[in-house]
Amino acid sequence: MIFVQGLSNLLPLGRAGSFWFPPQSSSVAAGHDFVYDLVLWLCIIFFVAICGATLYFMVKYRKRPGHKEEITSTHNTKLEVTWSLVPLALLMVVFFISTYWYLEMVTPPEDDIYELNVTAQKWRWTFKYSGEPIGGTYFCKELHLIKGQAYQAVMTAPDNDVLHSMFIPAFRIKQDCVPGRYNRLWFRPIELSPPEGFDLFCTEYCGDSHSRMITKVHVYETEAEWIAGIKKDGDLKGLNPEDRGKAIHAQFCSTCHTVDGKAGTGPSWQGMWGTERKLADGSVMPYDENYVRKSVLEPNAHIAEGFAKPSAMTPFDWGTENELYFDGIIAYMKTLK
Ligand code: CUA
Repeated sequence: MIFVQGLSNLLPLGRAGSFWFPPQSSSVAAGHDFVYDLVLWLCIIFFVAICGATLYFMVKYRKRPGHKEEITSTHNTKLEVTWSLVPLALLMVVFFISTYWYLEMVTPPEDDIYELNVTAQKWRWTFKYSGEPIGGTYFCKELHLIKGQAYQAVMTAPDNDVLHSMFIPAFRIKQDCVPGRYNRLWFRPIELSPPEGFDLFCTEYCGDSHSRMITKVHVYETEAEWIAGIKKDGDLKGLNPEDRGKAIHAQFCSTCHTVDGKAGTGPSWQGMWGTERKLADGSVMPYDENYVRKSVLEPNAHIAEGFAKPSAMTPFDWGTENELYFDGIIAYMKTLK
């Protein structure tokens, strides 16, 4: 009994997962596992039957006193036809079932598919979300999905990078990220992820930190949770302050504030850090942390000389993330000599 339990734990039976596989969490996982089961069981049955028969005959026909050697038959048409046709039939069954599921895996549905970009590089993953209904562009470190929605991943790696491959075991899918080329992979999650998320691995050896090129996949019930997940992740935490500031500038500020000295809708950031800021009311204040922070949260508090009041700027407030954002913006401003 214990043996049977142990065996069933090793075999991929049912959606709950097994020793081999995590729970079936995408629309193609059941098909993948069925093909795996089928081939595995065929192998087990034939292995046991053939080895069993071999052992049995070895014992049965062993050399012993009082026994005469029997003549081995050289030909048996019925037997030979049987052992040719039965494996052929089994092979065809495996072929058609696996082809059906392979086509299912590589053919995205035509309706309502959400496209996202995946970039693999030494040694991190970037998932880009943009457009409706998210509003804005987010570069996430983890993959965020809604249960039941179909996704089309457009995957690549930078030109000067190396080959990587995205593998999501819970979805039973895998696709290469090739430098300078685009690959596609579609999937539809059908189960919510555990709180820590499903695993996502790089499964192509890509250098030193290949083994650390792992991240998480989150599957949410609702669109609101999904958007919240993307926004929380896309908050640039993983970058150093200068890069983070640059990304924040590109994402939030660049339409109004240049970094090359030219005035836009608002004053340029170039060469301003550490100087004195002349204000529209004739006063002067240091261009420092206090000035920057105040100007982001309350654009009307200090209007720069040459700009009209009220300010055209929408106040930015990243709430609990404010420190992270200001830290990045200020670090970036310091580099704009
Ligand atoms: Cu990227 Cu291994």
